[in-house]
Amino acid sequence: MSKKATFLPLNLSLAPFLLVLLYHLLWSVSVNGIEEKKILSLHNNIWRPTKSIEAPSSCFSHNLGKGRESSTTLEMKHRMICSGKTINWGKKLRRALTLDNLRVQSLQLRIKAMSSSTTESISEAQIPLTSGIKLETLNYIVTVNLGGKNMSLIVDTGSDLTWVQCQPCKSCYNQQGPLYDPSVSSSYRTVFCNSSTCQDLVAATGNSGLCGGNSGVDKTTCDYVVSYGDGSYTRGDLGSESLQLGDTKVENFVFGCGRNNKGLFGGTSGLMGLGRSSVSLVSQTMKSFNGVFSYCLPSFEDGASGSLSFGDDSSVYKNSTSVSYTPLVQNPQLSSFYILNLTGASIGGVDLESPSFGRGILIDSGTVITRLPPSIYKAVKTEFLKQFTGFPSAPSYSILDTCFNLTSYEDVSIPTIKMIFQGNAVLEVDVTGVFYFVKPDASLVCLALASLSYENEVGIIGNYQQKNQRVIYDTKQEKLGIAGENCSF
Ligand SMILES: *[C@@H]1O[C@H](CO)[C@@H](O)[C@H](O)[C@H]1NC(C)=O
Ligand SMILES: *[C@@H]1O[C@H](CO)[C@@H](O)[C@H](O)[C@H]1NC(C)=O
Ligand SMILES: *[C@@H]1O[C@H](CO)[C@@H](O)[C@H](O)[C@H]1NC(C)=O
Ligand SMILES: *[C@@H]1O[C@H](CO)[C@@H](O)[C@H](O)[C@H]1NC(C)=O
Ligand SMILES: *[C@@H]1O[C@H](CO)[C@@H](O)[C@H](O)[C@H]1NC(C)=O
Repeated sequence: MSKKATFLPLNLSLAPFLLVLLYHLLWSVSVNGIEEKKILSLHNNIWRPTKSIEAPSSCFSHNLGKGRESSTTLEMKHRMICSGKTINWGKKLRRALTLDNLRVQSLQLRIKAMSSSTTESISEAQIPLTSGIKLETLNYIVTVNLGGKNMSLIVDTGSDLTWVQCQPCKSCYNQQGPLYDPSVSSSYRTVFCNSSTCQDLVAATGNSGLCGGNSGVDKTTCDYVVSYGDGSYTRGDLGSESLQLGDTKVENFVFGCGRNNKGLFGGTSGLMGLGRSSVSLVSQTMKSFNGVFSYCLPSFEDGASGSLSFGDDSSVYKNSTSVSYTPLVQNPQLSSFYILNLTGASIGGVDLESPSFGRGILIDSGTVITRLPPSIYKAVKTEFLKQFTGFPSAPSYSILDTCFNLTSYEDVSIPTIKMIFQGNAVLEVDVTGVFYFVKPDASLVCLALASLSYENEVGIIGNYQQKNQRVIYDTKQEKLGIAGENCSF
């Protein structure tokens, strides 16, 4: 009797604990099995009118970077927040999608031409296809010091030559701050057209270095042309200069003095090429940094800064999960790109199947939205819709076809998206990288992934899905590392 009497209240008082226990059991089951989810706050963005974050007005960083013996770290900012003017976010966000598609189309043409491996078709692919359109797809900028002057550069892993707009200039777009002027720098040197550096340009740009001035004379400038295939280009002559990256000085850094520049670069001083050929910044700084660089791309929604680090000192990373590595796929025909082997993917913990896993996929800092072969995209979309249920759907927009109206929600729970690469390296897409806000009020929010037109086109991992990750490019050991990181500087 008394036993029973004491048992009952005990049982009742245990009930909440049991519920909690049950909840934890269910939660951990779902985490390990199906339905892994993350919470996204829909209205906590930089574009929310009530939010008082003021867009910084400068493309330049206040802090020029920090370094140690063998590494240096630069602040990386999103270009959308360096314009200073009142921003119409809705318009900006939608325009970015259109432009992104143009970049991808031109990348596909470039790949097609490079794969067919005739030099003729390479130069064909570099002929501007959509001239006159001012593209703004390369989104991240850093500040460096070139010959004693601060320069803001767009970071591009998809090209090689670093260049800045140069004085005297034939045709320059508007930039913040003065143009680089070689005539007032004692450390500037002309790169001559008979030098091996000038010859190396072919690999880097697809266009051979031309001899400027009187052709046939050895001691003339080495003229370059880089066409980005999307209507934008830079033309000028090669020079070398002392380049300061954070605390690290690189003497005789070869760069392009751009005298005729047009396209996607507005506001900035030029571009930093982090591709794989010998003129790229990565190759030129091999001695100092061992061919290793890494970045953390910030989410511009919350106005954070990211970082671009050079060198293999992993203690500068602020990774929140351990780094997993995957080999860089060797493809001689596409040697200037960084290619990974996408072997699988999962949505909310559910593994997907597709005959197109096990193929190469580009990792690009300039493309925004990840493009997947149709069969993989279809599997992703189907599983995502299966798990993200009960939300009002909305019409497709541009390349995005899985859209919702989430205006009336504050927080939503969304399935995790993982991409798996050879060697079991995992990119777990950050919660800010799952949905693209076509309309800032969340009335049109779309899954931020898109399908390629054809199964045999090459997939691309865009920067939207690389946000809040430490992505480490080790060009010497031919591998790429990934870990979660909340970007900051
Ligand atoms: C470059 O920028 C840094 C940081 O804002 C500033 O301290 C420095 O004076 C600038 N240097 C030049 C030459 O403008
Ligand atoms: C390039 O030409 C200059 C002037 O004729 C000559 O002094 C120099 O040695 C040449 N360099 C090479 C690498 O041929
Ligand atoms: C960061 O990555 C390193 C290398 O994988 C790992 O040892 C370390 O534990 C990671 N940090 C965190 C907080 O997970
Ligand atoms: C990708 O990895 C799979 C499994 O290791 C392998 O069978 C396949 O050949 C690889 N693909 C490429 C393009 O390296
Ligand atoms: C989105 O949903 C809200 C509330 O549910 C509704 O008032 C609004 O008209 C919808 N917007 C669009 C563009 O459908």
